[in-house]
Amino acid sequence: MMIWNCAGFLSAVLALSVTGAASAQQKKFKNIIMLIPDGCDNGVLGLARWYKNAPLQVDEMSSGRHQPYMANSIMTDSAPGGTALSTGQLTTDKFIAVGPRREDVLTNLNERDLWPAYAPIPTILEAAKKLGMSTGLVSTSRVTHATPAGFAAHVDSRSKEQEIARHMVFNGIDVVMGGGRNNMLPKPECYNTTGTTPFVEVGRQTDEGEYSSSNRQTGARDDCLNLEDELVSRGYDLCYTRQEMMAMDVKPGTKAWCSFASSHMAPDIDRQFIAQTEPSLAEMTDKAIEILSQNPAGFFLMVEGSQVDWAGHANDPIWMVTDFIAWDDAVKVSVDFAKETDTLVMAQPDHNTGGLKVGSYKFEYVDRTVEFAREPLLGMRMTSEAVVEKMGVPEENATVALLKASILENWSINITDNEAQQILEYSDRYSDKFLSNPSDKIPLNYAMSRIVSHSYTIAGWSSHGHNAEDVPLWFYGMDVPKGAILNTDLGKIAADALGGLSKLNRDLFVDLDTTSLTWSVDLSKETNPHALVEGFVFPLGTDYFLNNGVRVNLPGITVYAPTTEKLYISMEAIQIVQSLA
Ligand SMILES: *[C@@H]1O[C@H](CO)[C@@H](O)[C@H](O)[C@H]1NC(C)=O
Ligand SMILES: *[C@@H]1O[C@H](CO)[C@@H](O)[C@H](O)[C@H]1NC(C)=O
Ligand SMILES: *[C@@H]1O[C@H](CO)[C@@H](O)[C@H](O)[C@H]1NC(C)=O
Ligand SMILES: *[C@@H]1O[C@H](CO)[C@@H](O)[C@H](O)[C@H]1NC(C)=O
Repeated sequence: MMIWNCAGFLSAVLALSVTGAASAQQKKFKNIIMLIPDGCDNGVLGLARWYKNAPLQVDEMSSGRHQPYMANSIMTDSAPGGTALSTGQLTTDKFIAVGPRREDVLTNLNERDLWPAYAPIPTILEAAKKLGMSTGLVSTSRVTHATPAGFAAHVDSRSKEQEIARHMVFNGIDVVMGGGRNNMLPKPECYNTTGTTPFVEVGRQTDEGEYSSSNRQTGARDDCLNLEDELVSRGYDLCYTRQEMMAMDVKPGTKAWCSFASSHMAPDIDRQFIAQTEPSLAEMTDKAIEILSQNPAGFFLMVEGSQVDWAGHANDPIWMVTDFIAWDDAVKVSVDFAKETDTLVMAQPDHNTGGLKVGSYKFEYVDRTVEFAREPLLGMRMTSEAVVEKMGVPEENATVALLKASILENWSINITDNEAQQILEYSDRYSDKFLSNPSDKIPLNYAMSRIVSHSYTIAGWSSHGHNAEDVPLWFYGMDVPKGAILNTDLGKIAADALGGLSKLNRDLFVDLDTTSLTWSVDLSKETNPHALVEGFVFPLGTDYFLNNGVRVNLPGITVYAPTTEKLYISMEAIQIVQSLA
C-alpha cells in the first residue's frame, strides 16, 4: 500500500510540465489514427494469415512490443488498457481515464508516477480537440464500452455506460460510429402516461422547461436525457445503417454519430446472417476518415476491433481470426490514407485475451499441413455464439443431439457424443477460475469453442481471461519503437506526436478545492445531477453552465468524482465564473 500526499501531487505536476516544455510543443503529424484490436497478441497473426491465405496489412508494420498492465494487476483489463493508450497513465481495474486508487497499487510502482486518485486525466482526444483538430471514435462494441470510453470519458467504473455516453456526447467528438444506441435515449418511463412526452426537459435546464422533440425513441437512460436530440441541436448528422452512412453528404464541418445497433454490433462473420444493415469496421473507418479529413488542422481517430477480445474470452478461433482480419482491413484503409497524407498510424492490442497459440497439446507438431490449419476454419461459417443461437432453444435446453447437429451444420465438424456431453458439463460447471465473477456460468459457446477448437483445429488456448505477456506494435509513418516499452509509453508517444499534453494537464480539469470558488453538488434528482459553482448550475458531465437559464459553453466537461467528493472544471470555466460572480 502507498500513501498519497500533497508533495507527491506537486512533483507529478512539475514532472509533466517540465517534460512538456522540453519536448518544445511541436506537433509532429497532421493526423493520428490509432487502431486497437482488443485482446490479442502474435498468436492470432499466424492463424489469421493461414485462414486468409495472404499477408496481413500489419505484417509490413511490425517490430516492437509493449507490456500491458494496470495499476493493480500485471494483467490489464480494457478500461485501464485504453486509459494507458489514451493518457499515458496507469490506472485501476475498471477505471476510465481517472487516476488509480491507492489501496492496491502494484508494489513495483512509484507513487509519484501515478495520477491523483480518481482525478480525471486529459486524453489524447481531448488534446487534439484543444488543438483545433477533429476527433473520432469507431468501434464494433457499444461506443460506450471500455476502450472507446477511455478516450473521451472520466468515470471510476466502465459499467457506468450511461454516464460515459453523456461525457462522450458533451465532449464534442466529431465522428462516433459503432453500437450502443440504447445508451443514447430515455427509458420508456421518462415519457408521460400518453407515452409521447418525456417528463423533463433534460440536459438543458432544471426540470421546468417544455420538452419538444419529434424523436420519440426509447432506450435505457435513467436520467431521461435524449442525447440524440442534443446531438441534432449541435449540428450532427445521425445515421443507423450502412446505407445511410454511405449516403451521408460530407463537407467541411460535418459531424456524425452513427448507432448501428442498440447494443453491440454483430461479429464480422455473422453480419451476413443477423445484421445485414451494419457496415464493416473498414467501411466505418473509411467514412470516418472522409469526414475528419475535411479539417485542415488535422484529426485524431481511434478505431477498435472490439470483438477480437470477446473471441479470445470464448476461445473461438473463427471469431478471433475473422474479427482480426476485419480490423486489419481497417488498418489497410488507414495506411492507404496515410500514404497520401501526413499521418501517423499506430496500431497495437491493449492486451492479450485467451492466450491463443497456433498449436496445442492435442497434436504432434510435425506433419502439420496447410490444410490442417485452414480447412477446419474454412468449414466454420459463423461464430460460436451464432452456432448456439442456431440450435433454436435457450442454452439451458441444449442437448447432445442439438449441439451435434448445429456444430455439424454450421461448423462442418462431426463431434462425438462424448464431446457434446463434455461441452454440456463444462458449461454447467460454476467456475472460480475462469471468469471474474465466480457465480458466472461458463457460457455454452465458450465451452463449445474451447472443446471443439482443441480437438479439431490447430488453435490452442491458455484461459478464458486476459494474459500478461507482451503484445506487438505496428506503426506506419514513424519507426516502430524498439524493444519492450510500456503500454503507457504509447499514450506518451501519441501525446508527443501532438506536441505534448502538459498545458492541457493543468487546464482542463482543475480541482475546485484548490481554488477559492464555493461549490456544492446536488445528486438528489436522477434527471438533473448538477453542481452549483458560485450559484451557477453546472450539469454534470456536460460542457456548459447556465447563466440565467442560458447556456455558456466551455472547452471541457464538468466531472464529479463521487468517491473523493471532488469537482473538476476547466481553468477557462473558472475564469468565466470569476468574471461573472
Ligand atoms: C402527456 O403528453 C401529452 C402530449 O404532449 C399532453 O397532452 C398530456 O397532457 C401529457 N400528460 C401528462 C400526464 O403529463
Ligand atoms: C426449456 O426447458 C424448460 C424446462 O427445463 C421448458 O419449460 C421450456 O419449455 C423449454 N423451452 C424450449 C424452447 O424448449
Ligand atoms: C446452421 O444450422 C442450422 C440448424 O442446425 C441450419 O438450419 C442452418 O442452415 C445452418 N446454417 C449454415 C450456414 O450452415
Ligand atoms: C459422424 O460421426 C459418426 C460416428 O463416427 C458417424 O456415424 C456419422 O456418419 C458421421 N456423420 C457425418 C455427417 O459424417
